[in-house]
Amino acid sequence: MSATRVGPHANVNRQFKLAARPVGLPKESDFTLVDAPMPTVGDGQVLVKTAYLSVDPYMRGRITGIRTYADPVNIGDVMEAGTVGEVVESKFPGLAPGDFVHSNWGWQEYAALPGKSVRKLDPKLAPVSTALGVLGMPGMTAYFGFLDICKPQSGETVVVSGAAGAVGSLVGQIAKIQGCRAIGIAGADDKVNWMTKELGFDGAFNYKTTADYSAKLKELCPKGIDCYFDNVGGKITDTVLGLMNGFGRVSICGQISQYNLEKPEPGPRILGLVLVKQLKVEGFIVSRFVNRWAEGITQMAKWLAEGKIKHREDVVQGFENTVRAFIGMLQGENTGKMLVKV
Ligand SMILES: NC(=O)c1ccc[n+]([C@@H]2O[C@H](COP(=O)([O-])OP(=O)(O)OC[C@H]3O[C@@H](n4cnc5c(N)ncnc54)[C@H](OP(=O)(O)O)[C@@H]3O)[C@@H](O)[C@H]2O)c1
Repeated sequence: MSATRVGPHANVNRQFKLAARPVGLPKESDFTLVDAPMPTVGDGQVLVKTAYLSVDPYMRGRITGIRTYADPVNIGDVMEAGTVGEVVESKFPGLAPGDFVHSNWGWQEYAALPGKSVRKLDPKLAPVSTALGVLGMPGMTAYFGFLDICKPQSGETVVVSGAAGAVGSLVGQIAKIQGCRAIGIAGADDKVNWMTKELGFDGAFNYKTTADYSAKLKELCPKGIDCYFDNVGGKITDTVLGLMNGFGRVSICGQISQYNLEKPEPGPRILGLVLVKQLKVEGFIVSRFVNRWAEGITQMAKWLAEGKIKHREDVVQGFENTVRAFIGMLQGENTGKMLVKV
């Protein structure tokens, strides 16, 4: 059997490839939409049809051309991304047409992959899109990056930046499960309302309309801050660090406020503060926890089923809108996990 398509894109595999290295905020012209031939399936492989693909902040780092903790995407390469799709043809014994799988085949509509390189999903357990969000990489980032690094104790105060996004919205809720006071920082009033009225955060504020972050944080954190989960860096983080309690723990997850800058922003020298407050400040990349993935997914799925964790997916319709979704996510258009439904 071969996958045939009808309509204007019959028998082509549409792909987004990197066309130029972005300067500042990426532009649509930094990517090109190309019609590639439909991939053919070799022995031990499956042909998958993309159902959902992910747009994530880390992708901004991959397209700068600089090796960070991973190789960059080269000009002319299909853009790298987490993906979920349906098997439409199989030459791999463990998978059959109709099965849903997760892997990282990037921004394209079809891919032929080794069957052993994909993870089979159970659509009865949770919608398959959750493999890119709460039960996938962002969920594991929240779970391990917060619990392992901050080691929160009941009664402590936890501040989360980027708090209405895929990772941050989960961190605040995990903090509540641990018996902590959870305070979120995000860039829109409806995000603040979502956190405080639906997710159970004890307080939140809009950093775009709040003039004095320090005064606001003092009001929301009367006992100071014990744990800080940092998704954004910049001025927000400079302010939070100044309000940490002695022996506080800081998990450096992301620095999104800096990703589109051409030159690093000068910051305060914080090591004196780290010294006198005896802070533990630790960065992490979620792949560090890959051997414990099953533990994290099981716990998150349990909390989800018990209603202790809520999640939201911001779904953009149509493969052709992938780049717009990516740029929109970098600008804060999403609440919860930004996905593209292909
Ligand atoms: N360490 C790891 O292994 C790992 C893994 C996954 C993600 N991360 C990091 O975690 C962070 C969140 O990722 P995510 O997938 O959950 O994305 P997300 O929060 O769902 O989406 C990105 C959000 O960043 C916020 N933002 C954009 N520019 C900002 C700025 N200048 N200042 C403050 N906030 C800004 C926007 O929300 P607002 O409306 O609030 O501005 C936007 O919605 C990112 O920094 C990402 O790089 C790290």
